[in-house]
Formats: sequence, structure tokens, C-alpha cells
Amino acid sequence: MFSIYAFTLNHKKIPLSKPYQAKNQLRYAQQVIESSYWSSSHYFSKRCEEFFNSYFGIHSCLLTHSCTDALELISLLIDIQEGDEVIVPSFTFVSTANAFLLRGAKIVWCDSQTDHPNISIDQILPLITHKTKAIVVVHYAGLCVDMDPIIEICKQKNIFLIEDAAQALSSEYKGRKAGTLGDFATFSFHDTKPISCGEGGLLVINNSKYCDQALIHLEKGTDRHAYLQGQINKYQWMNLGSSYAPSEFQSSQLLAQLEEIEIIFDIRKKIWNQYITQLNSIRTSKFRLPKIFDYSDYNTSILYLEIMEECHRNELIHLLNRNGISATFHYLALHSSPYGRRMNHQECPNASYWEKQILRLPLHTDVEEADVEKICKLLSE
Ligand SMILES: Cc1ncc(COP(=O)(O)O)c(C=O)c1O
Repeated sequence: MFSIYAFTLNHKKIPLSKPYQAKNQLRYAQQVIESSYWSSSHYFSKRCEEFFNSYFGIHSCLLTHSCTDALELISLLIDIQEGDEVIVPSFTFVSTANAFLLRGAKIVWCDSQTDHPNISIDQILPLITHKTKAIVVVHYAGLCVDMDPIIEICKQKNIFLIEDAAQALSSEYKGRKAGTLGDFATFSFHDTKPISCGEGGLLVINNSKYCDQALIHLEKGTDRHAYLQGQINKYQWMNLGSSYAPSEFQSSQLLAQLEEIEIIFDIRKKIWNQYITQLNSIRTSKFRLPKIFDYSDYNTSILYLEIMEECHRNELIHLLNRNGISATFHYLALHSSPYGRRMNHQECPNASYWEKQILRLPLHTDVEEADVEKICKLLSE
């Protein structure tokens, strides 16, 4: 018992991620408690949606409980039917696929690039059939997928384009914000993300034709939104839906963080730059830094290294963990997961590669210069 206590005193633990604490969070939480409005669609939710409408320059941003919820809402919006095919990267989180599977879609896996975990554009075209209803792209680590060729394919073939931008708040593709490039986009405010309210999400609708229907799905399938606006005097069941709108508690915390969005990303960028400078100075062929592309920058949501040998990656995780540093792997490719294998036996060798080679390093606003130095020293040794 004594030795564990001594360890915690002498060794600062460095978590992989840690939520930022914005200055107005407690005050706003208290305001919610003291108001009689704790449920969804009141003051704080509206303020957050106004923030995003102006941030993205579109008027159809809806808060949800999570990015997972926002993806499920899209699945309802585009009316996924049994047998529709949805092209999804294998190297992603389960929600990207679950959302469409839940409505009966068939998932068609697309592999990653050889030089980056993002979806391989060359491999999309051969996967398209007359049943393809949507393509989902994931901007891994906040680096945008090269969107222009995919936008063109989707236009030509009349296929929905969905950006799972869970990690891509503030990312830009050729000067355009991630989240404004497809028909729909989703973001996550889970506490591992740079901007967080514990659990939270956002749906961005870039085609105004879908806005009214989205509000119905969001409000459990009812026209309660129109009722709250005073447009009708009672609300009723209009379509399928679920409970996707967050409470004022979540929204109040999100608003406090959004008020400091620039400060948060500035701090992260500084830490990112320190890491990159120090990692670049390590002369080794055993790992590579995230590859740079001219169409997008990294938004600092995740810092990862490509470790050339899987066994070195695993040894490094143990070494860093033993030194109080929470470094870790990332996604396990979905096509070869136990549930993925029950669906089909498609192979995605590049996704399998990234599953084995990625090492994620701590990046959050409490990482100090000395922490980065310690981590880079351990890596160089
Ligand atoms: C690509 C991607 N999509 C969706 C999600 C799910 O986000 P949430 O936890 O907000 O539902 C995650 C979670 O990290 C993710 O990485």
C-alpha cells in the first residue's frame, strides 16, 4: 500500500487525454440547476446551435447526445432500407458502421491508404454498385480526407456523402471547414475530444431539404419542435425517431468550452509543435511522424506515430505505461473484428496494418513542456 502511495507522489501520471476545464462551466451548470429548464432545446442548447450555425456558415446544426446518435439520425434521414449498401472505412470506430447496420444496411468495407489511416480513394470506385446509398469518410486524427474526388464521385453516382468528423472539429480541407464538405457531418464532444461536455455530438446538415425531417427524428419522431416554436398547438407522432437531443446540463458545459475554443486549440497546437520538433530530431528508421498532405493540416485532436515493427509498438506502449505515461494503440480494424467477420470476409490489408502500427501519445491542454521532453527521451532511448 505504502509503495503505491509513494509512486503516485513521485511520478506524475500523464493521461492520454484529459478534458479542458473552461472558466464558465460551474457557473453555467448552476444556472441550469436554478432554472426550471433541465431538458433539451432550451437556452444553452440554442446558444450552442447558434454558435455552430455561425461557425460553419450554415443554418442547420443540431446538438445530439453523441456522435453515435448523430450518425444514427443520418441513417433515418436518408431512409436506409434493408439491403442498401453503405461504404465505410474499416479503420474507424464501431459507431460509423453500427448506425447504418441498425437500419438494415449492408456494410461494404473500404481500405485505408498505405501512407495514412484515412480511406483510400482509389479503392472506393470498384466498391460502388447500384445499391450503394452512401459513402462515409472519417477524417482520422483530424486530417481531412482528400474530399474533392469523392464529392465528384458522389455527385455523378447520386450517392450521399457523410463526413464522420468525430475528431475533426476545426480541421480544414483546402480552406473549407471539415463538416461542410458532404451532405451531412457528425462531430463528437466525448471527453477524449478537444472540446467536450462529457458525452455530446453534433449533426451538420448541408442540404436544407432535410432540416425539417431531422427535427422530427431528433424529437422522438414528433413535431414537438414546431410546437415549441409556437407554430402548432399540439404535437404528435409524425415519423420514426428517438431521444437524440441533449439536456441543458450537457449543452451548458459545451457552451462554456466553445467560448474558449481558440484558446483550447492554441494550447494544443503549441504542445503538438513541441512534440513534432523533438520527434523530428530523433534520428531513427523505427518510426515515422504523421504524414503531411497539402490539402489539410492536423487539428491536433490525436497525435500518433507509425511504428514500423508491431513488436516495437507494443514494447513502447509497455515502456511508456511503466513510466506513468498513458500511450496506447487505436482502432482495431472493423472488417476483421469478431462482429465484422460474421458479416463478410472482405480483406483490408492497410487497415490491418494501421491497427498494428499506431502508437498514440498524450495530448491535452495539461501536457507540460517537461512531459513532452520526458516522452520523447523515452522514445529516443
Ligand atoms: C470516427 C468516430 N466516429 C464516431 C465516434 C463516436 O463518438 P461518440 O463517443 O461521441 O458517440 C468516435 C469516437 O471516438 C469516432 O472516433
